[in-house]
Amino acid sequence: MQLDMYINLLLTITGLVQVVTASKPQWVKISGPDEVVAGVSALYECSAICSRTCYYTWNVKGQSFPGSKFTLTENGVDTFISLACTVTDEDHKHFVSEIRSVTVINPVSVKPSTNQSVLNQQPKVGRSFCLTCDAASPPVTITWLKDGEPLTLDSRMSLSTDNGTLFFSLLEESDSGQYQCKVLNGNVSVISKAYWIYLGYVIVSVTGPNRAEIGIQSEYTCDAQCRMDCTVQWALHAGFPRGRFIAEGPKILWTPSDIGQTQVFTCITLNPGAGNIGQVSKIVTVVEARPRPMPSNAVLAKPSIAVVSSATLLILVSTCV
Ligand SMILES: *[C@@H]1O[C@H](CO)[C@@H](O)[C@H](O)[C@H]1NC(C)=O
Ligand SMILES: *[C@@H]1O[C@H](CO)[C@@H](O)[C@H](O)[C@H]1NC(C)=O
Ligand SMILES: *[C@@H]1O[C@H](CO)[C@@H](O)[C@H](O)[C@H]1NC(C)=O
Repeated sequence: MQLDMYINLLLTITGLVQVVTASKPQWVKISGPDEVVAGVSALYECSAICSRTCYYTWNVKGQSFPGSKFTLTENGVDTFISLACTVTDEDHKHFVSEIRSVTVINPVSVKPSTNQSVLNQQPKVGRSFCLTCDAASPPVTITWLKDGEPLTLDSRMSLSTDNGTLFFSLLEESDSGQYQCKVLNGNVSVISKAYWIYLGYVIVSVTGPNRAEIGIQSEYTCDAQCRMDCTVQWALHAGFPRGRFIAEGPKILWTPSDIGQTQVFTCITLNPGAGNIGQVSKIVTVVEARPRPMPSNAVLAKPSIAVVSSATLLILVSTCV
């Protein structure tokens, strides 16, 4: 309705002042949902007002599609999609682009099967393990991917008859990797969110003094060595340290302000899927500063402000993504 009104208005104007309207397309607009579900098609429409005819082109993931309408069917690999609509007028001299960012919700995931014993809920070398492909609607065909490639079953692996469960009779270090399932309903396929199996060595250590002196900066460093890529993150299980406190990447710098505090600095090692694969804690007690030789005019600072520079501090994670 509104669009018709604009067109009528524009036609009226164009009749009157031809020179002014030979300009770039106006009112370029993308209509369609902000969120789509992987495997479910969504329709987008681009509209604009041009002096005569509008020509529309969609640009999605580096590909061009002509026309004002575009049907988006996502497979779940990307979590965000950028849709660009470019409008040109009849003589292709002017163009205007509009971009819409769309969130993709993936309803399919790979998870440790819930019907296995509690001992087996987390993958361990030498144990059996089950993964389930969790899809909202029963898919017609399920296939499995490891590290993005079709999974090759060996003698220690088997699939349920519907392929919905992947069973490892005995896990080995070489089973480490990213597992996904691909479900196919008719001609629409969805690739699930990933689950990481992480086996093999993880060595985590925290260095730094067990006794932190009041008013003196102490430094703590977490060091992790892993078979695959891993990152470290700090967690504070005994509350926030008083004094000047900075946690950044693998380092903590702490100048305590209050005597008698006890802190627990926990370093958590994360796999690429953000699963906790190992952690170590250090208990630190605040003690009086030892007397130090100092120039006579020096004043021992006693800071009382807490400084947090890491936003990732208190995020606690689980292995099941
Ligand atoms: C768990 O359930 C799946 C089917 O839902 C089945 O294929 C699998 O064998 C079961 N695993 C165990 C350990 O019972
Ligand atoms: C099970 O997976 C195999 C490949 O691993 C595939 O060829 C077959 O079609 C799948 N069957 C079902 C019922 O999904
Ligand atoms: C899937 O098939 C239906 C008709 O069976 C068709 O309308 C639709 O466009 C197809 N979707 C894709 C993504 O190819």
